[in-house]
Amino acid sequence: MHHPIEHDDPLEEPLDRAANYLRDAQTLAVLTGAGISAESGIPTFRASDGLWENHPIEEVATPEGFERDPRLVWRFYNARRASVAQAQPNPGHRALVALEQRYQDGFTLITQNVDGLHTLAGNRSVLELHGSLRRTRCTVCGDIADRGLEPLDELPHCPKCSGLLRPDIVWFHEMLPQDVWLSAVEAVYRCQVFFVIGTSAVVCPAAGLVPLARRNGARVVEFNLTRTEASRYCDVGLYGPAGEMLPKLLSRL
Ligand code: APR
Repeated sequence: MHHPIEHDDPLEEPLDRAANYLRDAQTLAVLTGAGISAESGIPTFRASDGLWENHPIEEVATPEGFERDPRLVWRFYNARRASVAQAQPNPGHRALVALEQRYQDGFTLITQNVDGLHTLAGNRSVLELHGSLRRTRCTVCGDIADRGLEPLDELPHCPKCSGLLRPDIVWFHEMLPQDVWLSAVEAVYRCQVFFVIGTSAVVCPAAGLVPLARRNGARVVEFNLTRTEASRYCDVGLYGPAGEMLPKLLSRL
């Protein structure tokens, strides 16, 4: 009679492989997206109840939308600022702090998130590709200022030149800050292991960092609830909540 073999937890093998990659490496680069903050209560973008479901991208996340109706855009960003003000880093963020402690200067955290939770958790080497909800930028004099997460006026103006302020966020149709982008590419070239965590990997150029890491010979590990556009470039996938998978992986080191 045939007895089916009792399989261990199907996560054991990928966790072991990812832990081995980390043990063998001196350099780690990490790309995060909205999924790492989901367990902190911040909605992602492309889920069925995601942010882009209720807010047409063209209206609230493009320079054209801002020109058309800056009040609407500021209402949207003030609401996001208020929601982030309530949020705390989760175990996934904290695991990345522990990894920075392990790899020190060999660690770089590249994030598409604008919520500032990686820095709040304690990461130091953080590259914010898409800007920050905490900062404003003057549309006239270009002055950039950190305003924390306190609510701003409905139509805030620059204290220096009284020009209209905008969120210091990279919108669709806009370039990434070039210095930040170049540092990210450099970190990807340098890394022996690359993590891609909680991103659907559809927005360029950030998503292009995954094939870049792969082509450059890094071991690539994906953390997500499901497979994504990045999965084909990954050596290992850890499918489950990042706030559970990252601590599980760390406990093996
Ligand atoms: N753990 C791991 N992954 C998760 C979790 C979780 N708890 N919850 C959700 N995810 C995954 C989803 O499966 C999805 O693949 O996170 C991903 C979130 O994808 P998006 O909503 O598309 O967010 P992101 O990839 O960060 O978007 C990129 O697009 O909207 C613009 O500029 C914005 O920075 C953003 C960019």
